[in-house]
Amino acid sequence: MKDIKDLKVLIDSKKLNERIVALADEINSHYGENEPLTLICILRGAVMFFTELSKHLKMPVKMEFVTLSSYGNSEKSTGKVKAVNLAIPDLENQKALIVEDIIDTGLTLDFLLKFIKTNCKVKDVKLAVLFDKKCARKFDIEPDFSAFEIDDKFIVGFGLDYNGFYRNLDYIGYFE
Ligand code: IMP
Ligand code: MG
Repeated sequence: MKDIKDLKVLIDSKKLNERIVALADEINSHYGENEPLTLICILRGAVMFFTELSKHLKMPVKMEFVTLSSYGNSEKSTGKVKAVNLAIPDLENQKALIVEDIIDTGLTLDFLLKFIKTNCKVKDVKLAVLFDKKCARKFDIEPDFSAFEIDDKFIVGFGLDYNGFYRNLDYIGYFE
């Protein structure tokens, strides 16, 4: 177990929230205010970003939740996506926005994107992430909306965990 005393602040709560509001503005400008949008939250990491972002969206919004995991209890991806709950309704002729905490190798989002395109009859699906770890990418996939680009360090807080802990922090931290 790592000690919270060794946790350094990377992004404080104020900066996080300001950037999320700005990203919501980008999303509002892209979609406009009239057409409904289904937000798909990837549990559990995206939970804080998802709720915060959704508060600032102006179009009519529906919320769906899926549970996926690729990390197990470590700082490195297992290379396999475990789908714990993938119950997404038909999104026939609808627009969807997947909301994820962080894109790392791209495995998780590549998997979900393909699943939704194949099974949900969606009109359009895009990706919004809080963090883009571009340098770690192994799959050919880019987020449409991204709040922060970060280098290859393991971060926790604001939904992101280490061994299930630290998700509740209102800032982003890292262990040195
Ligand atoms: P990917 O499938 O390799 O893109 O990994 C994405 C998933 O790995 C995210 O949904 C996170 O749950 C987890 N992840 C990747 N990097 C970090 C990190 O720095 N801290 C905590 N979780 C991470
Ligand atoms: Mg995750």
